[in-house]
Amino acid sequence: MAQPLVFILNGPNLNLLGRREPAIYGHDTLAAIEELCRRSGATLELEVDFRQSNHEGELVDWIHEAGDSAAGIILNGGALTHTSVALLDALKGVDLPAIEVHLSNIHRREEFRRHSYPAQGAVGVIAGFGPQSYALALVAMANLIAAQAPR
Ligand code: DQA
Repeated sequence: MAQPLVFILNGPNLNLLGRREPAIYGHDTLAAIEELCRRSGATLELEVDFRQSNHEGELVDWIHEAGDSAAGIILNGGALTHTSVALLDALKGVDLPAIEVHLSNIHRREEFRRHSYPAQGAVGVIAGFGPQSYALALVAMANLIAAQAPR
């Protein structure tokens, strides 16, 4: 049987990981995080589709695409987290469990990072564990999908 497909979507500037503010985001590249997600996904028997875009509309389109083809969405919206009603509406528009992730703990940084729009359309938020935030989100997603599966 085909494994459940999980879209892992990354927003603006996350392509710069590795050289972007390493004191906050660490030294791992996005490619290394993708590899971690692939390994975690394989262990959890999930298929992973890992993408990054600097464009809000492209992320919205991918959420719609996930609605047609995936079992769940893990989203790191980057800075769009704090501005994008469109990402929230897209998550609400598709009938899929979503988990928001952040590398950094957005609650112990600047005040403006404490508010998240997409979090209001997510089952939960995992923040502050660096690349492990993604691995933890995959474990949570595997449980959500298993809970939905017909027994
Ligand atoms: C981030 C936190 C955001 O506030 C920031 O704009 C990012 C990265 C994180 O993963 O910690 O681009 O989403």
